[in-house]
Amino acid sequence: MENENLQFKGGNPGAVQYGNFINYYQFHPPAERLKLLPQKIWNNEKPCIALDIGCNAGNLTVALHSFLKNNVMEDCSILGVDIDPVLIRRAEESYSSDNISF
Ligand SMILES: C[S@@+](CC[C@H](N)C(=O)[O-])C[C@H]1O[C@@H](n2cnc3c(N)ncnc32)[C@H](O)[C@@H]1O
Repeated sequence: MENENLQFKGGNPGAVQYGNFINYYQFHPPAERLKLLPQKIWNNEKPCIALDIGCNAGNLTVALHSFLKNNVMEDCSILGVDIDPVLIRRAEESYSSDNISF
C-alpha cells in the first residue's frame, strides 16, 4: 500500500502534503521556466551529471536534460528522485532513457 501521507485528502488532488500534485505540469509547463535559466554559467569541461530532487512526473527533468545537452555538453546524464513512488512510476513509463533515470 502507498504511504497514506502521499495521498490527497478529501477527493481534492490539490490537497497534498508534499506538493506531489498529480497533474502538476498541466499548470506549470517546463518551457516557460527553462527560459529563466542563465545560459553562460555552466562548466562545460566535464561530463554533465545532474540530480533533480523532487522531480514529480519527470516533465521538467526531461526538459532540463535537453537544456543541459544544448547549453553545457552533449555528454549529460540526469537522475530524478521523488518522495512519491506513483510519480516516479509515471516518470519511468514516460521518459526513461539511457541518460535519464528516475
Ligand atoms: C511542487 S512539485 C515540483 C516539481 C518539480 N521540482 C518542478 O519544479 O517542476 C514538488 C515535488 O517535490 C516532491 N517532494 C516533496 N518532498 C520531497 C522529499 N523530501 N524528497 C523528494 N521529493 C520530495 C513532491 O512529491 C513533488 O513531486
